[in-house]
Amino acid sequence: MHRQSLLAVVSILACSTTLSCVNDAQEVTPEDERWVSAVGRESASTLAGGLIQRLTAALQEGGPEHAVNFCSREALELTATIEHSLTDGIELKRTSMKYRNPANAPDELEVAAIAYFQDVLATKHELPPYLVQRTSQNEFRYYQPLMVNEMCLQCHGTTELIAPEVQQAIETSYPNDLATGYAVGELRGLIRVTVPSRVLEDT
Ligand code: HEC
Repeated sequence: MHRQSLLAVVSILACSTTLSCVNDAQEVTPEDERWVSAVGRESASTLAGGLIQRLTAALQEGGPEHAVNFCSREALELTATIEHSLTDGIELKRTSMKYRNPANAPDELEVAAIAYFQDVLATKHELPPYLVQRTSQNEFRYYQPLMVNEMCLQCHGTTELIAPEVQQAIETSYPNDLATGYAVGELRGLIRVTVPSRVLEDT
């Protein structure tokens, strides 16, 4: 499908799902969706790009065991640093139903957003690139799905794909880890970007 028409389909899906899947959600107008998704996309790409760059460097430098330790020390820190570099008021989070770090556990609206992407994934071939929720009169959320690729498997795959020393490092830092057993093409989680309405006036 062409990118343009995919985005059109996605907008329709995202709008109708925003209204039906989250009880107290308020309406997202097409105009809201346009500006929130533009801000959200840029913020989420900055975070995803920053994390992938650092993760890849850590993997090359010292392999997956070293990279696990890098992730546990620096992923949240890097997220906060990138958040500070964005327009004031924008907030970033990574979340998942099967989370590794309890600090990344989903709240109720995030659970609804994850369920939305899981449903689409179960029934359609192509996943929408985003979902916009309105959380109050003055605030929106933009969600971007994070899919599992080959590279993720060394730390999030089935046990036979995770090296014993990597498993050991994960267990030491995350005794209640839920984030293994994934296969390529599955939804690993979401990046959430919180976008206050005043960002529109500031930009
Ligand atoms: C070197 C090991 C490693 C690799 C490779 C890796 N991760 Fe992670 N991942 C971690 C660790 C450790 C955490 C927990 C620390 C954190 O990021 O907050 C984590 C956390 C996450 C989280 C936050 C939710 C949670 O479970 O706490 C997401 C989302 C995530 N990873 C997605 C991915 C994706 C997608 C890939 C592949 C593109 C990937 N990871 C590759 C080690 C890894």
